[in-house]
Amino acid sequence: MVLQQPMNRNLLPMAGHTRGKRSAVTCQLKCASACAKAVCNTSDNGYFRDIAGSALSRRKMLTGVGGALALVVTAGQVEGLGSTAAEAAQATRGGRPGTGLSFGAIDPVDAAVDEVTVPRGYRWEPIIRWGDPLFSDAPEFNPDRQSPGAQEQQFGYNNDYLDIIPLGRRNREALLVCNHEYTNAGIMFAETSNARQLDKQARIEMAAHGMAVVGLGRDGKGEPWKYVRGSRYNRRITATTRFELTGPAAGSKLLKTKADPDGRYPLGTFGNCAGGTTPWGTVLSGEENFNTYFVSPDTGAGAKRYGLANKPSSYGWERVDKRFDGNNKGYENEPNRFGYIVEIDPHDPESTPRKHTALGRMKHEGANVTVAPDGRVVAYMGDDERFDYLYKFVSRERMRKGNSKAAKRHNMSLLTDGDLYVAKFSGNSPESEIDGSGSLPSDGEFDGSGEWLPLVTNGRSRIDGMSVDEVLVFTRLAADKAGATKMDRCEDVQPHPGSGRVYVACTNNTDRGKTGKEGPTEVNPRTSNRDGHVVEITERRNDATSTRFGWTLLLVCGDPAKNDATYFSGYPAEQVSPISCPDNLAFDDSGNLWISTDGAPSTIGYNDGLFKVTLAGKNRGRVQQFLSVPTEAETCGPVVHEKDGMVFVAVQHPGEDGSYRDQHSYFPDYVQRSDKPEQGSFRLPRPSVIQVYRD
Ligand code: FEO
Ligand code: CA
Ligand code: CA
Repeated sequence: MVLQQPMNRNLLPMAGHTRGKRSAVTCQLKCASACAKAVCNTSDNGYFRDIAGSALSRRKMLTGVGGALALVVTAGQVEGLGSTAAEAAQATRGGRPGTGLSFGAIDPVDAAVDEVTVPRGYRWEPIIRWGDPLFSDAPEFNPDRQSPGAQEQQFGYNNDYLDIIPLGRRNREALLVCNHEYTNAGIMFAETSNARQLDKQARIEMAAHGMAVVGLGRDGKGEPWKYVRGSRYNRRITATTRFELTGPAAGSKLLKTKADPDGRYPLGTFGNCAGGTTPWGTVLSGEENFNTYFVSPDTGAGAKRYGLANKPSSYGWERVDKRFDGNNKGYENEPNRFGYIVEIDPHDPESTPRKHTALGRMKHEGANVTVAPDGRVVAYMGDDERFDYLYKFVSRERMRKGNSKAAKRHNMSLLTDGDLYVAKFSGNSPESEIDGSGSLPSDGEFDGSGEWLPLVTNGRSRIDGMSVDEVLVFTRLAADKAGATKMDRCEDVQPHPGSGRVYVACTNNTDRGKTGKEGPTEVNPRTSNRDGHVVEITERRNDATSTRFGWTLLLVCGDPAKNDATYFSGYPAEQVSPISCPDNLAFDDSGNLWISTDGAPSTIGYNDGLFKVTLAGKNRGRVQQFLSVPTEAETCGPVVHEKDGMVFVAVQHPGEDGSYRDQHSYFPDYVQRSDKPEQGSFRLPRPSVIQVYRD
């Protein structure tokens, strides 16, 4: 959808939900309605089946390491090894197949309901909301008196990735770290066509993007958290904060601009989606739909592959900052400085945040790090666009243990140097059995083997005709050449802390099987994939640095009651909560998977929610809904502190389809002007981080 009125962009094109698509407003603001446009990936990478090779390659995997036999079994179900082996594997890796938080699954909630719904015996409350003041001298939130200066000192808009990192032994202090992915002027501001007012709004929106670090405090274990105004940790990172580029492409001519002739110090981060906390205590965040913020006259393959276009952006930042318009001489490369994994140290508010070129440039959903047996670290990463790819990075150096300053300094360099790979999946069932309906093939599983294809190794490009700089800045082009597997929008990718298996949320891809586009493959087995699926990867020898893996689909999502073709690892479909559009992933202390969703209102007709999925034992594949967010909101960044009996989510874009005068949600306070006239109008939704705890 193209915005027709950039000078009056509060009038966003409104359209109702359509089956298979999310809200039109969310689409326009998050990714400039990428789904309505041509697919960026027009490469002709084929898909490889592996029928003859599958038994052999699997046997090799299974027998390759005597003692680790149980650990390499794919999904705990294949090759005659059942869930008991999977349980044993999990147990030996420190995971424990337990029940996790005890709760009774909630019923799915109709998409029109503007409430947070939690299980019986639990309650919820916000920790922090858009506009809440972070610093002692920061102004109180007043939607009628917003300014760029105020917003820079307040909690940002549309929180997405979230972690709650406890500090100290007494469990009374913590850090809240989150992303602010994007803004929605149509519901944040009163409608205007005044050019000066619109420019001011653009600056406010730049200040509402980025990230936040917020100190939390509480009275004791199990008690709810309160955010601490004026905490020494509090920090806002916005679209104008100075970053440092690291890695092989830092300083490359592809990254130089008039304002930064060194090509090393980009300003700001935006479009930040998922993320992950590293074993050394820093936070990673993925710059996702960065292209939607730029005007670019570049018609080259690189620009096209990332969806850049030479027309006014929805956000209009090019009106107030010339670097957002590539037609301004000297700023042609500005978009090349976005699309990275950023790393911030939330413990040090003075630290310079960094962007790591070694992890490639794409529409990075996020990155999650695990430590390989030899001590090197591996980051798993999804590129969230239809028919784009799954990646991993393996560090050159090993992680140092301990909390010393020297260890931390060393570990903070791990993501600056290493090898970059992209995934190629092969299915093991005949092509004729993968018919696009979602019906299982005769071997009873969507499964197979795979290979990590090298893009950069040992400091050298592995792609003919591309330098290391080019591979790292135009990573999608490099992965096309390598022959990667086209996926159904890889969102969060999370290695399990116990079993080592890697979970990939493929949120949906309604274009699969359309004329001229790739049809069903065993790893993306449904045409018009509206509801998404979850892939489970087992690295060879359970070593994250391996270049071979096995895989199976853990879930094929949907609503079984509506006869959707679904699969829950063999768990009875009539006993699960309906789930659609898996997005962010997390684990609890017992090793269960938690999935938050983005898009269920427009597919299965229910509000988005948070779901617990049992991975081990006889209940493997059981999906239980824990909570539901308000109307037109997305559930983001789940964090489960099982021992504390607490769950946290970021509630993003509540009431997204409303307008300033016709709001659809009043989350989280549900108060209106008459309630607090002295503080101005509160007749608008405020994206917020909420906590859920036992009543
Ligand atoms: Fe921002 Fe990929 O969802
Ligand atoms: Ca199969
Ligand atoms: Ca996401």
